[in-house]
Amino acid sequence: MKLVFLGPPGAGKGTIAALAKESLSIPHVSTGELFRKNIRMGTALGKKVRDILAAGNLVPDDVTVAMVKDRLAEADAERGYILDGFPRTIAQAEALAGISGIDHVVNFLLDKESIVRRLSGRRMSKSTGKIYHLVYNPPKRDGVDDETGEPLIQREDDKEEAILHRLEVYEEQTTPLIDYYRRRGLLLDIDATGTPDVVHARMLERLGKAE
Ligand code: AP5
Ligand code: ZN
Repeated sequence: MKLVFLGPPGAGKGTIAALAKESLSIPHVSTGELFRKNIRMGTALGKKVRDILAAGNLVPDDVTVAMVKDRLAEADAERGYILDGFPRTIAQAEALAGISGIDHVVNFLLDKESIVRRLSGRRMSKSTGKIYHLVYNPPKRDGVDDETGEPLIQREDDKEEAILHRLEVYEEQTTPLIDYYRRRGLLLDIDATGTPDVVHARMLERLGKAE
């Protein structure tokens, strides 16, 4: 199954993708995570995008599309995938249509207050990208990754100013995709409130894949 995860920052795309990649046995391709990996590794791409991510702006379409194209070629895209955080502009959606067909666009819906609460409490593992929350999904030991024992970090773009800016960027540049995909009959609106397990089950049911 080929899925696109759409929705505002903090709606839980990465969290639900981590569950769904197991339940649906398809790879999770997150453009944000790919950029962050390049930044951590100090690649040329990482250097180019570091300040853009920290400020909460979008990376230029040509750079993003080239990275996704490479990653999907690697992933054996025909078997299926979850594209998390891509496309994010109409130009990216047009480019994706030229690379691969998709089955559904899952549009996660969440109110702004919950978004800010989720993002400001998010912490993550630097090396594995595993997502935690100080209140909703705390690590077993305070401030430490369950798997690697490393200290958890806060994303640069989860500081308050960057959160508010990312929400504006989402409104301006990404919400046009909702209509774009609805008109094509691909959009599935999913209420993103409730625990991750509840949201995951709700999505599987809508996809006809309830366990
Ligand atoms: P990206 O990493 O994609 O960030 P985002 O879209 O802003 O989304 P987030 O990762 O912030 O939120 P999420 O929905 O994944 O929520 P999560 O599951 O983590 O992109 C980062 C940057 O990269 C962009 O700003 C841009 O610069 C660049 N970029 C990426 N893609 C691009 C593209 N296509 N084009 C151009 N530039 C691009 O959950 C959030 C928190 O809530 C966590 O703490 C989690 O534990 C908690 N939580 C999740 N679900 C629940 C729940 N059900 N109940 C309680 N808590 C929950
Ligand atoms: Zn994410």
